[in-house]
Amino acid sequence: MPETPEQTWNIKQLLDWTTDFFSKSTIGNARLEAEVLLAEALDCQRIELYTRFDEQPPAEQLTEFRAWVKRRAAGEPVAYLAGHREFYSLRFQVDSNVLIPRPETEHLVVAAVEFTKNLESDPIRIIDVGTGSGCIAVTLATLIENCKIAATDISEPALEIAKSNAALHAVDSKIHFFTGDLLDALPQGSSPVHLIVSNPPYIGQLELSTVDDQVKNHEPDIALFSGDHGTEIIQRLVNDAAQFLLPDGALMFETSPIIMDRCVDFVRNNPAYSDVRVIKDYSGHDRIVVATRSSN
Ligand SMILES: C[S@@+](CC[C@H](N)C(=O)[O-])C[C@H]1O[C@@H](n2cnc3c(N)ncnc32)[C@H](O)[C@@H]1O
Repeated sequence: MPETPEQTWNIKQLLDWTTDFFSKSTIGNARLEAEVLLAEALDCQRIELYTRFDEQPPAEQLTEFRAWVKRRAAGEPVAYLAGHREFYSLRFQVDSNVLIPRPETEHLVVAAVEFTKNLESDPIRIIDVGTGSGCIAVTLATLIENCKIAATDISEPALEIAKSNAALHAVDSKIHFFTGDLLDALPQGSSPVHLIVSNPPYIGQLELSTVDDQVKNHEPDIALFSGDHGTEIIQRLVNDAAQFLLPDGALMFETSPIIMDRCVDFVRNNPAYSDVRVIKDYSGHDRIVVATRSSN
């Protein structure tokens, strides 16, 4: 959007110009992203833009919007610029310390809720390993009435975001947060739980060249990468989780179709688990592993 003093811009012109600019910068959802950023700059709902097409935004908001458009065109994800992302129809605050919640992870939430429907315990105890923005723990806390969740992450700044998301959705009394490495983050002597959920890092360093620039240049390495092949953290999680699960409890984690077979083998080769199944994502890719703790 040229900054010529003689030209004024109304909302429709801003959206049209930015959509065209983003399309030429090969941004996929050009119109949607232009609308998200303009709505954020004007502090309104996206839908309201359509009733305000002829309005000319004040200079200050226009300056902020221009700066975001430049940063977006340079590759910064729109969720970090806007400061939030929808997950399971809830709004989550995000910044560059946390992974941007992905739609695939909603399958993990669906499977977790289904599993807890068959439990009669009160409370239902859950651990979320590598909580990041808190999207899994917070969503489960809003959906499962009688649950208590321990959410861990190795990143202290990520946990701060997760805590504010728990407060935002008024479930902070149901979630306790712990910093540290996987399940070592939990206090000694913690009670075993019914369910462990996790969306751990699962990209291999050897796959680096195939990772989208927008992801690898902006999202935290610690949220993305796990050893050379992407399996390192999952292997440790499968081994460690068994001792934190009640008999017939479940471990559910997200992974990549590329390493799915190895992840399933980690479970099958561990006698602490009696059963394993795989859930596909919206694109039909194998995405979620569900392992059942043996009952003896
Ligand atoms: C893929 S992100 C998932 C974040 C969030 N649960 C989600 O689904 O959007 C993985 C998270 O695991 C955390 N993490 C990485 N290594 C860890 C470790 N060894 N122990 C605990 N958390 C770890 C990262 O900081 C990051 O927040």
